[in-house]
Amino acid sequence: MRVSIVGSGYVGTTVAACLADLGNEVRAIDVDRRVVEPINAGTSPIHEPGLEPLVSAYGGDTLRATTDYGAVTDTEVTVLALPTPTDSAGGINLEAMEAGTRSVGEALRHAEDYHLVVVKSTVIPGTTAERLVPILEDASGRREGVDFGVAVNPEFQREGSAVEDFMEPDKIVLGTDGDERALDRLARLYEPLVAQWETPVVETGRREAEMIKYANNAFLAAKISLINDIGNICKEFGVDTYEVADALGLDDRISDQFLRSGVGWGGSCFPKDVDALRVAARDAGYEPAVLDAAVELNDKQPRRLLSLLDDHVDAEGCRVAVLGLSFKPGTDDIRNSRAIPIIEGLLDRGAEIVAYDPVATEPMRERFPDIEYTEAAIDALDGVYGAVVITDWDEFATLDTEFDAMARPVVVDGRRIVKRRDGITYEGLTW
Ligand code: UDX
Repeated sequence: MRVSIVGSGYVGTTVAACLADLGNEVRAIDVDRRVVEPINAGTSPIHEPGLEPLVSAYGGDTLRATTDYGAVTDTEVTVLALPTPTDSAGGINLEAMEAGTRSVGEALRHAEDYHLVVVKSTVIPGTTAERLVPILEDASGRREGVDFGVAVNPEFQREGSAVEDFMEPDKIVLGTDGDERALDRLARLYEPLVAQWETPVVETGRREAEMIKYANNAFLAAKISLINDIGNICKEFGVDTYEVADALGLDDRISDQFLRSGVGWGGSCFPKDVDALRVAARDAGYEPAVLDAAVELNDKQPRRLLSLLDDHVDAEGCRVAVLGLSFKPGTDDIRNSRAIPIIEGLLDRGAEIVAYDPVATEPMRERFPDIEYTEAAIDALDGVYGAVVITDWDEFATLDTEFDAMARPVVVDGRRIVKRRDGITYEGLTW
């Protein structure tokens, strides 16, 4: 098929490259030349495992990028993959989404054939029908359901495995409100994946499809907060939470995923989506008690970690090492990383911080320019009076004699990189 993807962020670029790999003719539309040019030159503007070879194979060929929304009319389907960031009140900011939708509508004014617009961005239930469809109709002078269709098709891609998550999905959600023409066209896009993996396809309403994405992320974030709550209780009773979680995971009704307790969840999606859902719920007159508690607990975990450190070390005036800065391993993304409240808490205590991360040093340096950063974990540990582990990078699990370099060997592990280390004070946050 001929498909345009609006927005070349981490979702849009991945979707564009994967759809090209599935044999489609793809146009990536983005207002930013700095992402358009690399794509056409065959290099990926973002780092995602497996993405570079795809952009290199198809970039400038069946995957072409442009800043011109006119490209929409050369295609049969347009996927909106624009950001919906948090606004000042915690809700979603639809500015980019509405501007992009208007530009697509203006292009559709010149379309000769039926066109399908697909909302992939995460939006609050009702947004597509109530906010985006009117913009499309107004800008195009055409009618939805007659001249064009609008479907909702959320993504469930994780950073660090976005290509794999697209190519081998657990489920495909198609929200069309029963518009057969829209459903047929959207289903065709995913046909090769469904044929290969027998992926379950959920055909549903647009509001339901919009909600499924929020419910998915809210559920997973709350699942981690619940295991953190249980972990905190286990710690009080001297119980190994990780053994408990292994047993819990054997129950099919629970599953073994997202049961790693520790310093909590971060990243761009969980905090943003849980907040947006809470704000939307409140606006509708409902108090989302469990989601409120999930966030409260997530804010509490870094404070608990620091108070465990306080039990062993008075950090004031002492060098303390922070191991891991990204919100999870495999990425240099520090958005809502638990390392941020940890660094702030240590600075409040008057500690001298020395931080190490294999890839996320530069983004964190922009945020905290005055702390010390090292090139290797061993250098960060040299002469410190305590260390905290914030990201579960594999390399931290093999640290051993490196701890001998510490002036006082106290480690508080927020990610269970190992269960314990003999010969030093090794505190697990939840075990
Ligand atoms: C998430 C969703 O998984 C994905 O479906 C959605 O499309 C985008 O948001 P992502 O933010 O890339 O993906 O990261 P994810 O791997 O889900 O981890 C989120 C956070 O939870 C990380 O900070 C991670 O460290 C933490 N986490 C995860 C835990 O603390 N314990 C776990 O058991 C799993």
